[in-house]
Amino acid sequence: MAIFLCFLFLIISSATGCDRCVHRSKAAYFSKASALSTGACGYGPMAIGFNSGHLAAGVSSLYKDGAGCGACFQIRCKNTTLCSSRGTRVMVTDLNRNNQTDFVLSSRAFMAMANKDMGQGILKQGILDVEYKRVPCEYKNQNLAVRVEESSKKPNYLAIKLLYQGGQTEVVAMDVAKVGSSNWGFMSRNHGAVWDTDRVPAGALQFRFVITAGIRWKVDLGSECPA
Ligand SMILES: *[C@@H]1O[C@H](CO)[C@@H](O)[C@H](O)[C@H]1NC(C)=O
Ligand SMILES: *[C@@H]1O[C@H](CO)[C@@H](O)[C@H](O)[C@H]1NC(C)=O
Repeated sequence: MAIFLCFLFLIISSATGCDRCVHRSKAAYFSKASALSTGACGYGPMAIGFNSGHLAAGVSSLYKDGAGCGACFQIRCKNTTLCSSRGTRVMVTDLNRNNQTDFVLSSRAFMAMANKDMGQGILKQGILDVEYKRVPCEYKNQNLAVRVEESSKKPNYLAIKLLYQGGQTEVVAMDVAKVGSSNWGFMSRNHGAVWDTDRVPAGALQFRFVITAGIRWKVDLGSECPA
């Protein structure tokens, strides 16, 4: 389906909680690499390509009903024999339904916390004491992108997925309108990073977002807009 996408921005500053403080918890890892490509955020197999495969399932306070999808955290384990002080950066792609650890990491991310030659050592531990804090994600040459989902159906149903949402912001609301129109209709979070509406206007579309945190968030996809 041919959908033209344009963007407008609505910045709302309302930082919540203490996202950027250092938190202490535990982290475990997924022994199956496939676990995170079926994650609750709905990224599917494309998740494997995100953040060099350093992925994580976060507990509900981090997953935030899907608003936490795509958020990045610097995480390190506290045993200095086993682990480097720098740790690694992980991206949330799934909900951790088990409340014993704040994170379950991909094994690649888990091992990336290790000192040289300690990778097997930390796998053997299974669960580690960790510290973590929210950090911006790093996407090389990627801005926020909107991917139209295959479940979209003309003429009225549109489902999209938000990708490469960098920074430390979260999308908490989203509207859609026909380009040039100020008749905005809201979209709902279907699950994870997927938003939908069954009242999509015909023709080229523009979106606006409500985001948390006081960071200006500029996205330029102007070349995809019809002239
Ligand atoms: C760190 O891990 C090593 C190897 O498992 C263990 O021998 C040591 O006691 C741990 N240190 C602390 C402070 O837990
Ligand atoms: C964690 O999960 C267990 C088992 O589902 C439950 O009994 C316990 O109350 C939960 N703890 C917290 C702090 O939510």
